[in-house]
Formats: sequence, C-alpha cells, structure tokens
Amino acid sequence: MSRISYVNGEYLNHSDSSVHIEDRGFQFADGVYEVFGIVNTKIVDFEGHLNRLYNSLNEIKLKSPIHRSAYFFHIKNLISKNQIINGLIYLQITRGVAARDFKFPKNTKASLIITAKCLQNNEYDNNFQKGIRIKTTKDLRWKRVDIKTINLLAPVLAKQYAADNNCQEAWLIDENGFITEGSSSTAWILKNKTLYTTPLSNSILNGITRQSLIKGLRRNKIKYLEKKFNMKDVKDSDEAFITSATQYVMPVVRVDNFKIGNGKIGKYAEIFRKVYMEAIRLS
Ligand code: PDD
Repeated sequence: MSRISYVNGEYLNHSDSSVHIEDRGFQFADGVYEVFGIVNTKIVDFEGHLNRLYNSLNEIKLKSPIHRSAYFFHIKNLISKNQIINGLIYLQITRGVAARDFKFPKNTKASLIITAKCLQNNEYDNNFQKGIRIKTTKDLRWKRVDIKTINLLAPVLAKQYAADNNCQEAWLIDENGFITEGSSSTAWILKNKTLYTTPLSNSILNGITRQSLIKGLRRNKIKYLEKKFNMKDVKDSDEAFITSATQYVMPVVRVDNFKIGNGKIGKYAEIFRKVYMEAIRLS
C-alpha cells in the first residue's frame, strides 16, 4: 500500500508530493501548522486543534484556503486511505507561492498540505514504561510562540542539543530561570500531590493535550496549579511529565543530571495517563 498525502486539493502518492520553490513557507517560514493524534482511527481533540489552527491563521492574517468543515473530511480521508489505526496527522498552511517579497502577496491562495503517519501500537507504551530524559537549554524563540507557526529553528536546535546529550526532549529556560515548556511539548512537575504547569501567555503554546489533561484533573478532583517553576522546583519535585499530541502523557525520569524521584517512572504516571485517556474518550 502506498502512502497518500493531501496537497492543495489533490490526493497524491507521498513520494511524488512536492511544493514550489517559491512557497512562502519554504522561503519565510510564513505559515502555521497543527499535529493531530489518531487513536483507534479516531482524531484526538479535533475541535481543539481546529480552533487553535484558526486562531494561528487569524494571528498571522491568513485566510483558510478551504472551508472549515472540509478539514474533518480530508483528515478522515487520509486516515482511511493510509489505513491508520494509531498515528499522526500533520497539517500545514502557508501564505502560498509568490515571487520573493517580504510583504504579503496579493491574490495568492494559501497552500495546504496534510500528511499522515502510522505508529506502531506498542511504541508509546514502551517509551512510557521507560520514561524520558530531558536536557535544559535557553529559550531562544521569538515572542509569540502562542501562535503555532512553522518557524521552528530554535526548537530544532534545542531538540538536537537534547539528542546529542542522550535525551529525548529539551526544556526551555527563560531569562528569569523559569522553564517555559518543552521544544515540542508542555512541561509539568508534581510536588506533594499537586501538578504544576506554566500559566498561559505569549511565551508558551496553549497545548491541546494540556487542556484535555486539565479537564480530566478537574473531573477527578486532582489538584493542579498553573504556576511558573524553575530548576530548584524540578530538583525538589516528586515526578515530572511532558504532554503533546505525539507523546500524550509521558513521564520524565531525569532532567539534566538530576534523577526525578528514584529515576524510574512514578506512581502518578499511570494515574495521569488514565485521566487523560478518559478525558479524550469523553470529549
Ligand atoms: N508540538 N509546546 C510546543 C512548543 C509544541 O510544539 C507542542 C506541540 C506543545 C503541545 O501542544 P499539543 O498538546 O497541542 O500537541 C507545546 C507538536 C506535537 C509538534 O510540533 O510536533
């Protein structure tokens, strides 16, 4: 079976899919994106991701190239054409193809591509059981990371730095020593049965997984606080986690040279995973 992608109105073989050299995404990173998880053929938190996509489009003054109702249709089509049970959908919209000029082009239609990826059933579970290691690094991103733009050079460098240090994710530290978030995930720590995550602002992305987990925490009356935390708090924490559309709830067992708890996943990891999985089933 060949992999199928959606490119500007057409379903194409993934290996034959391409965009123009003067696409503004390619030349200016002038675009936005979303990543949707697929669990048991279902799109996780579809409305949440779509709302955030429209918010990102609005912030960069870009009009959606298709009607809002068509996104569900195309994503569903890709899930079925690629026979995805568990996997991911990547969706990107750029300001289209035009001669290189910083100003917005006139009368240019936005470009839309959607790709689908299968994940092995046990991949998430295996990683979950081991937990992941985090490397901290400076947050070098621009000042509007609440918009999900395709300008990802700072996270690319941060993630590579983490990988070079045998870690799976980077936590980004602002000029005041606070951890903003992961290079592509939301950061959490647990202390005395209270879960902490950074409050929303222009300095972090409003994670859709974060929103669902919070709904689940409320429903289960588990304490959480939106409060900034630094490395001292991390060292004092009982457990730590990341959340994202690709990692769901993933326990952290080490941050830099510091073991979290005893260096193995803690007892709350399973609880939070269940709370999250229940929240997305009910949404
Ligand atoms: N990243 N923070 C950042 C900087 C992110 O890039 C992401 C997601 C998140 C978590 O958001 P959500 O829960 O909505 O996935 C937080 C995606 C997965 C990516 O770039 O691949």
